[in-house]
Amino acid sequence: MLKVTLLAALALCAVGQKYNAGRAATPEEIKATDQFMAPDGTGLPPGKGTAAEGRETYSRRCARCHGQQGQGDEEGPLVGGKGTLATPKPLKTVGSFWPYATTIYDYVHRAMPFDNPGLLDANQTYSVVALILHMNGIIGEKDEMNAQTLPKVKMPNRDGFIRDTRPDTGKKKK
Ligand code: HEC
Repeated sequence: MLKVTLLAALALCAVGQKYNAGRAATPEEIKATDQFMAPDGTGLPPGKGTAAEGRETYSRRCARCHGQQGQGDEEGPLVGGKGTLATPKPLKTVGSFWPYATTIYDYVHRAMPFDNPGLLDANQTYSVVALILHMNGIIGEKDEMNAQTLPKVKMPNRDGFIRDTRPDTGKKKK
């Protein structure tokens, strides 16, 4: 993936030079996003955090858009909706919809805060992910999230997805 990102950066750089716009991504910027955490936890970095520890980071970096309780404010809610998916008014949140806790880490690490991604270190990311899980009633306030415990968290909608077995999806039939 690194090669592809570097090629894309070089291509952008060439375009930028031609039109005198933009700049090449720095190696640090590429490193910050060029990591992938799989649903089974592969790729999760060292580090740890609890919901209690995540409150400060969440208040400073996330509440502005997602609300102090994760209820949604300028942007969508991160909390609630459990049990609504099969009703006429489904509320899809990380808590009600997402099948894996590990991909919350991946997403937050890669994309949040929306206006400054890559800002949080691994401990801060584990702790805000723990807080989101805790606000959804999935883990306790002092449960430590790390590369070993996060993959073990069972999300409420884990079994709510149906595997796509059409041959062109490349997935094996089970
Ligand atoms: C400037 C506003 C802003 C801030 C600050 C922000 N977010 Fe977001 N967040 C967004 C937007 C916009 C989306 C939807 C992005 C999309 O769909 O492409 C989003 C989506 C998300 C999602 C996915 C929600 C879903 O159900 O798909 C998560 C999880 C999330 N943010 C967590 C965080 C965390 C944790 C922080 C703090 C570290 C944070 N966000 C800070 C604007 C923000």
